Amino acid sequence: MLTEIFKVNKDNPDINMITRAARIISKGGLVAFPTETVYGLGADAKDPLAAQKIYSAKGRPSDNPLIVHISTFKQVGEITKGDLSRAKKLSDRFWPGPLTIILKKNDAIPKETTGGLDTVAIRMPDEKAALLLIAESKTVIAAPSANISGRPSPTCANHVIEDFEGVIDGIIDDGHTRIGIESTIIDLTSKVPTILRSGYYDMLSLQEVLGEDVIDVSGKVVKDAPRAPGMKYRHYAPKGQLILVKGERKDIPKAILSKINNYQKTAIITCKENEKDYLGHKVYVLGSEKRGEEIMNNLYSTLRKLDEDRIELCYCEDFENVEYGKAITERLEKACGGNFLRVSDD
Ligand code: TXA
Ligand code: MG
Repeated sequence: MLTEIFKVNKDNPDINMITRAARIISKGGLVAFPTETVYGLGADAKDPLAAQKIYSAKGRPSDNPLIVHISTFKQVGEITKGDLSRAKKLSDRFWPGPLTIILKKNDAIPKETTGGLDTVAIRMPDEKAALLLIAESKTVIAAPSANISGRPSPTCANHVIEDFEGVIDGIIDDGHTRIGIESTIIDLTSKVPTILRSGYYDMLSLQEVLGEDVIDVSGKVVKDAPRAPGMKYRHYAPKGQLILVKGERKDIPKAILSKINNYQKTAIITCKENEKDYLGHKVYVLGSEKRGEEIMNNLYSTLRKLDEDRIELCYCEDFENVEYGKAITERLEKACGGNFLRVSDD
């Protein structure tokens, strides 16, 4: 299959390109498209066969539901049932934007799209190309992150090409994504609104807008029945071994240096401030620890770079205390598959 690349400008996407991509979606095909978080692998969310194509292209387990992308709030009413008052409050403040809301679905969305669940995850992305694509395709678009299942999510079209060239019908390319990690997911079908995956928006900001308590179960390993089925799978993982080093920042470089061996191609993921501690070693700098946004934005491309550079063993410093540290740490904990090194100064 030839994968068509539709290159567009982020601020002013060419509508002719978008229309061509939308035609593919209407015919039941697969088009990857940019959002402000990561690139998504899109198909018509109302078409069960199209949704199945997403699962087979990604190699994604069929019990792992997809997020449905919309371009107007009216579409929420068209695909859900039940009270929308909480969803409206969140939408007024956070949409378009990196927040996904789970509601009870109606029959407009087939179970193939929701991994067999009777709920549906919905989000309105803050990206012109994505909003135009949804509007032009005259449907709602199911889209997981556009990576082969288990790999780091894509933050530019080249990452999507790496995983899916020749496998999907098209890719809309508008450059690098602004945020770089996936949306916050909040479940509104439970009595108390519950955060299932952390992201750009944290518990306090959601609580403030809803005017009620919110529970956060993200990052908790609930192996048997996690509320967001996708959270039980290893994810974001590079091919080599990744070890997440936790502890006081000042103690971390010494601990890492004492572990490095000469038998494996080894690297260290660090911040600008600590780079100097690893002179002579292969280092990937995510950004300044004073700028969590930068660290978050460089995370996935760095994890992919490890594979490109054939790194066999990588120690990654802990970023829990930077801004967006919770969302960053949740991803790193999954990427290292439980491989931690805990450092103490005694
Ligand atoms: O930022 C994002 O959210 C990106 C962009 C493309 O929009 N999308 C994304 O999709 O990250 P994906 O499929 O990689 O992650 C979706 C997560 C999975 O963990 C899945 O299990 C969960 O959302 N999810 C989807 N529908 C759900 C539902 N009805 N109930 C519980 N969890 C759900
Ligand atoms: Mg994903």
